[in-house]
Amino acid sequence: MEIKTYLNEQRELVEQALVGLMLSAAGPFARHIEAMRYSLFSGGKRLRPILCLAAAGAVSGSEDSRRAALPVACALECIHTYSLIHDDLPAMDDDDLRRGKATNHTVYGEAAAILAGDGLLTYAFDLLSSASTSALSDHVRIRIIQIVARAAGSQGMVGGQALDMIYEGKEAGYEVLHTIHQSKTGALITASIEAGALAAAADEVQVTALRSYGEQVGLAFQIIDDLLDLESTIEELGKAVGKDVGARKLTFPALFGVETSRVMAQDAIVAALEALQDFDAKADPLRLLARYIVERKK
Ligand code: IPE
Ligand code: IPE
Ligand code: MG
Ligand code: MG
Ligand code: MG
Repeated sequence: MEIKTYLNEQRELVEQALVGLMLSAAGPFARHIEAMRYSLFSGGKRLRPILCLAAAGAVSGSEDSRRAALPVACALECIHTYSLIHDDLPAMDDDDLRRGKATNHTVYGEAAAILAGDGLLTYAFDLLSSASTSALSDHVRIRIIQIVARAAGSQGMVGGQALDMIYEGKEAGYEVLHTIHQSKTGALITASIEAGALAAAADEVQVTALRSYGEQVGLAFQIIDDLLDLESTIEELGKAVGKDVGARKLTFPALFGVETSRVMAQDAIVAALEALQDFDAKADPLRLLARYIVERKK
């Protein structure tokens, strides 16, 4: 299968599910919900939900599993979109462009953008716990909620973002850099995969292998994000470039240079593929996604 065809197909599936599950901008909270929808429906790659669905597919080929994973996948995209809205705020990376559009705070104002992020984060847990996920047993549902909460929180994405800010302009070594990337980006990507696997009733051996796949692709994903910030263009990425050097962010290319960083991302992908060795052809989309993550141009 061509990666491009696969991604388009899966993105469309996620897009439709998000449209069906997202709050509509009507009633007293219309303006607030409009701000949430503005960023949610602004054309992201939908990588985390796609990984979630691919992990479910790697465990079980059944339509039921995919149906069970779909609201979970949507919840993950809500959390990711919230993280982008907050990441772009003046107090954080101070960006004007995201997904090829004006950032949330430049359109709605800072207070509304903060609240749009809060709304998306909270709504994700509404989705995870609500009737649309009733295809899951209570036990699995609670486990998924805990995995996602931990990945999004202070020992995951939020914690990583805090470190990312603290280490701006500071010297640090590989260990700190690895922790930042693994937490600010790797954690939610890993949780997407783990949650997808659990939605498809994965056993513990499968969950462990897929978690390891997730950690590796999550790290590679942020290394490539660092490289694209240096090597790509604003037109291609739909967001500013050259920001990391300007803000003196602790990144892989800053610490190791471009060539070594690329090799490190590729090594992570090799390790990710090794983690899938006991999976059959149902895991081929995950294999395809791993390669796409290092080869991507946006
Ligand atoms: C950007 O994520 C932020 C990072 C965690 C590096 P994506 O590159 O997945 O952004 P979208 O969702 O496609 O816009
Ligand atoms: C952000 O990392 C990671 C998040 C948790 C949002 P970056 O700050 O490098 O992401 P971009 O480059 O702005 O998308
Ligand atoms: Mg940032
Ligand atoms: Mg940023
Ligand atoms: Mg970046």
